[in-house]
Amino acid sequence: MTILSKGGNQKRAESAVINFEKRWVYVLRGSSKGGDMLHLGDGRIVIEGSAFSSQDEFSVTYREKSLYVVALSGMIEHVIPVSSDDYSSIREEASRLGCLTSLQKGQYLLPGFVDLHVHSPQWAQDGAALDEPLERWLGKYTFPTESRFTDNRYATKVHSHLVDTLLSRGTTTVLYFDTIYRNSATGLAQICAEKGQRAFVGKVVMDDPEANPEYYRETTDEAIAETERFITEIYDLNTPQGVYPVITPRFIPSCTDKGLEALGCLASQYQCFTQTHCSEGDWEHATVWERFGKSDAEALNNFGLLTDKTVMHHCVYLSESDADIFARNGAAVAHCPYSNAYFASAVCPVRRYRGQGVTVGMGTDISGGYAPSMYEVIRMAAIASRMLEYGVDMKIAADRRGVPGSLMTLDQAFWLATVGGASALHVNTGRLDAGYIWDAQIVDVHAANADLPIFDEEEEPKVVFQKIMNLSGPTNIKKVWCQGRVVYEG
Ligand code: GUN
Ligand code: FE
Repeated sequence: MTILSKGGNQKRAESAVINFEKRWVYVLRGSSKGGDMLHLGDGRIVIEGSAFSSQDEFSVTYREKSLYVVALSGMIEHVIPVSSDDYSSIREEASRLGCLTSLQKGQYLLPGFVDLHVHSPQWAQDGAALDEPLERWLGKYTFPTESRFTDNRYATKVHSHLVDTLLSRGTTTVLYFDTIYRNSATGLAQICAEKGQRAFVGKVVMDDPEANPEYYRETTDEAIAETERFITEIYDLNTPQGVYPVITPRFIPSCTDKGLEALGCLASQYQCFTQTHCSEGDWEHATVWERFGKSDAEALNNFGLLTDKTVMHHCVYLSESDADIFARNGAAVAHCPYSNAYFASAVCPVRRYRGQGVTVGMGTDISGGYAPSMYEVIRMAAIASRMLEYGVDMKIAADRRGVPGSLMTLDQAFWLATVGGASALHVNTGRLDAGYIWDAQIVDVHAANADLPIFDEEEEPKVVFQKIMNLSGPTNIKKVWCQGRVVYEG
């Protein structure tokens, strides 16, 4: 392999790079001598470390000490194993250029997480107010909280704190539900653009005067016009990592037929992502059946809101034919196990949906789920699946208590939080391999004041991975990159 380096390490942008040009990726494979040419310089960075990344849905691979060559565009160009003849020379050259980051002993690279469901305004009430069922929780706590986001200063304060919190937990891509206010949703998108987080942002639609309180609703005409204006405003934001608008009816019970139809038309006109809550709990599921005589999935499909650019939240009550509609259309499910424990009254049958070919990722559902970290969501998904598999009521005989075939391992939950979420959003991230985006985090298992009991120098990687998944906390996360740019350092 020939190493070419041009000049020193170009200074990487400090804040959002507007009008970013993708002009850097030139890896010339197969030179006249039959080898590869590898470029350093031109803003490339090289990271040296050991990494965990999904091999497939059910297994995680450990790649011992390697060099990750990342272009200024944020793409991983090369992964050079320590066994490669060129390892030392590439390492030396990167060090000479000042673009090498070497992990210390006990530090590991993992892909950044994808959180498919966050209600940004609800960060202000996170950790509280979970004593009511969904239909009362909305009116008693959530609509009053969200209606405060007409105050731009307050909105900026909450949004900034939330985006910082998510980045510091290793979450590099987020699908947000904001409020019905365009200014607030656009403000959130701008904050994500500046802080370097990849974001899909929805201005929420709640246009049914019968269903929504007077202080927190909009007319159908306003909802459609404001959604369209929001889409164009967000398309104008130009970031390296990507910030995108999402068409976001809150859920069928909040919206009129006319509003839902118009949103379906906008989705097709702008080829936009769509999201909403779908078959989340008994009450919502029954309300939609009463109104349309059909399921959420069928109704949303008829409104043109269930496409291959759709993420539907929760989906705990999908029938087999509903899940078939998802699989046929290429629509994705956001599994939110914390929130399901409070609002769904059931465990989402993720393995069944995956068996039917449905794309599934995971979400925190802040604040229906109070934990902001995808590590917590991974743990809860594994625990909830065990409860579904084995059942929960000791009065029922063991062989009839659970739903066999529901168990989810930590490896599968990790895959959902990375690769699953990335495929739901059509982003080439979630894996630390050449050709993927460098969205990554460093986890330090020896961080002070952490709960990670690793005493052996040569602990088996499989054990280290399981301990990181189950026990690591925010203090273990030392650095986070999104699209090749450092977005958090702890
Ligand atoms: N359904 C409608 N609105 C909401 C919300 O804010 N959170 C959850 N979990 N479900 C909803
Ligand atoms: Fe939600």
